[in-house]
Amino acid sequence: MGPEAISSIADPEAVAWDRITRVSVVCLIEDADAPDGVVLVMHSRDGRWAVPADARRPDEDVWDDSVLRIPLETMGFRRQDTHPFALCDDGRHVAFWVFGGTYAGTRLSAVDVPWWTGSVADGASLLRPQGDEAWAALVEAADESRRTRPYERRAADMHRTLVGAYLSADTPQGGSGFGGSEAEWKEARGALVDAFDPSRTSVRFLDHACANGHLPVSMVSWAAERGVEVDPYGVDIAPELVDRARVDHPAYASHFFVGDALTWVHPEGERFDVVHVLLDVVPAARHRELIRHQLDHVVAPGGRLVLSEYGDPPSSRSTEAQVTRSGFTVGGRTRQPTRGGRERGFPSVWIEAPAGP
Ligand SMILES: C[S@@+](CC[C@H](N)C(=O)[O-])C[C@H]1O[C@@H](n2cnc3c(N)ncnc32)[C@H](O)[C@@H]1O
Repeated sequence: MGPEAISSIADPEAVAWDRITRVSVVCLIEDADAPDGVVLVMHSRDGRWAVPADARRPDEDVWDDSVLRIPLETMGFRRQDTHPFALCDDGRHVAFWVFGGTYAGTRLSAVDVPWWTGSVADGASLLRPQGDEAWAALVEAADESRRTRPYERRAADMHRTLVGAYLSADTPQGGSGFGGSEAEWKEARGALVDAFDPSRTSVRFLDHACANGHLPVSMVSWAAERGVEVDPYGVDIAPELVDRARVDHPAYASHFFVGDALTWVHPEGERFDVVHVLLDVVPAARHRELIRHQLDHVVAPGGRLVLSEYGDPPSSRSTEAQVTRSGFTVGGRTRQPTRGGRERGFPSVWIEAPAGP
């Protein structure tokens, strides 16, 4: 069943989600080397190229479950950024566009389905001669939604995608968006200790986008193994997650703040020796502004701003490539993170903040 007669979704809150019976997912990979910065992914079905789509299962929440399951099962594509953008006029078929990439975890058996990847325009040109005009139009509408989406809508969609999943996670690292064991968490994130200046024996460490605070608090024991004392702080845009961080870590309750990494400053103007930020919490077009703000207002003079990128992005989105593209000089990099002994993602990099006057 195709996506006939669609209209765009202005407000996801106004969608009658319980009426949805069918879900389509336009899958995109953010890739700075691609024309227009994105790659469309489709799979082959019955000898034709297709956008992942399926019926909603009775027990599924559309946003949390169907939109995750459908591209994963259909073509081994793992969604991250998630945005509903179109609804068929009967109100039963919803379409999302998602940013994501190859699924590298172990929760589902690997799906060995050939991918077509290319520009949105080329994808639409493949779909039309197959007789799939409605799918071609849907893919183009997804791209239009992606290009015109305001920052506030992006943040609201991210909030809806992440917060419920994090609050209901059954491990502390799951409450920070990490699907794996505590040992794998340390393998993936413990390398951040490499970014500490070896001449310091105590560090005020602030994690932006800290979710339930598990990363800054984990840094206390990881750094202690090197004889460094960490005083952990965290900031997150989602008040529910900051509440959870305060409850889970009562000894540091006053160290957690609600704020947007693009604009947050400490209420008393305090600055931090090491500040960690995930680049993917703001659009690539605002990386320069994000980094500038941290160096000017959050990192202490002589401190370090450490940048990471979540997941397994294409090499054009390695942390180092993005920081360099934003016009900053990389001062050093952590070791390569691993998972189950295999390399995953990219090293985090740091920028040295100028020493004070
Ligand atoms: C994957 S968790 C990161 C956990 C931890 N910092 C780490 O690096 O492993 C991403 C978090 O980013 C938060 N977030 C998204 N956009 C943000 C922004 N602009 N400013 C601050 N936090 C943001 C979300 O609420 C979510 O809790």
